[in-house]
Amino acid sequence: MKTKPLGATGESVSELSLGAMYFGSRIDRETSFALLDRYYEAGGRFLDTANIYATWVEGYDEPESEPLVGEWLDERGLREEMTIATKLGFSYGDVPRSLDPDLIEQEIARSRERLGIETIDLLYVHVDDPDTPQVDVMETLAGAVDAGHVRHLGASNVPAWRIARANRIAAERGWPRFEAVQTRFSYMIPDRDADFDGQLPAGDELIDYCDQEELTVLPYSPTLQGSYGRDDRPIPDGYVRSENRLKMELVENLAERKGVDGNALVQAWMLDREQPTIPVVGVSTIDQLEANLQASEITFTDAERDRLNAIESLGFDEWDLRGE
Ligand SMILES: NC(=O)c1ccc[n+]([C@@H]2O[C@H](COP(=O)([O-])OP(=O)(O)OC[C@H]3O[C@@H](n4cnc5c(N)ncnc54)[C@H](OP(=O)(O)O)[C@@H]3O)[C@@H](O)[C@H]2O)c1
Repeated sequence: MKTKPLGATGESVSELSLGAMYFGSRIDRETSFALLDRYYEAGGRFLDTANIYATWVEGYDEPESEPLVGEWLDERGLREEMTIATKLGFSYGDVPRSLDPDLIEQEIARSRERLGIETIDLLYVHVDDPDTPQVDVMETLAGAVDAGHVRHLGASNVPAWRIARANRIAAERGWPRFEAVQTRFSYMIPDRDADFDGQLPAGDELIDYCDQEELTVLPYSPTLQGSYGRDDRPIPDGYVRSENRLKMELVENLAERKGVDGNALVQAWMLDREQPTIPVVGVSTIDQLEANLQASEITFTDAERDRLNAIESLGFDEWDLRGE
């Protein structure tokens, strides 16, 4: 599998990250291990989890994803080969939604323990916290990097201007910055006022900021629950707009002509973007994983790319605010 740069760290990671959100809960241990094995066999080295996964699933009050990933790493002896991303900041159990410094330290310790690893390769703040000064958040994260508990930082569901502000605070003090942004991002673009319950969709400012400042974009829920290739998954709530109907028709049309899955095609479009973009792949079966791994193989002609980008794209077309 090819790689993409991770921000300005000088490091590269697999161009498709495997999301482990339901591993150990909705997706049983055996299937989760099979998915991890197949992803690894395909060359994938970049796993995505979070401290809360998936405590909202009935019957699973405790985090199951991190321990399962940890178990797999241990059983397969692959710790050194894999890049492990996890997240903190959302509420679960008795942990409140917060980026309070004590909570950050507590949750980093718990995640390292559950994953059975010394260092988290990429730690995201999973959500913004307007009540904790950003300088305190960045200082605490810098402390974790300094202590060797975390290697790189990322932000998820944080508005562009807040990431920019946090990174300026970090730069002024010589602390590590957010190098990656995980955001709700697909080919279809949601309504401005759609409510995704704390999940923040990518907007023009975020995409442009990441582009200008060399932060990697990691689209989560890239297929919108498989809606680009399944009759049982219509265009989801929050996305029902005429532009998206056109987008869907185009994806269906191109997928049919190329003989590929529409969900894979959308992830291929992400990989094809000029700005480093790494879809966080969500699957529950081996067949879905096989289909989505095809994203790495799908290529576009200039005409196809132009058609895909012609309907409505994020970011600013011409970054020339001087109007020259
Ligand atoms: N940072 C955040 O706030 C955040 C939020 C959400 C997710 N994430 C991360 O992103 C990862 C992916 O998110 P997601 O699960 O919401 O992604 P998604 O791409 O929107 O949905 C994945 C689901 O779509 C269906 N699907 C995907 N590919 C398919 C294919 N080729 N053919 C048929 N069906 C297909 C499957 O549904 P069925 O299983 O129902 O068949 C699959 O489980 C998560 O594991 C997690 O790591 C992060």
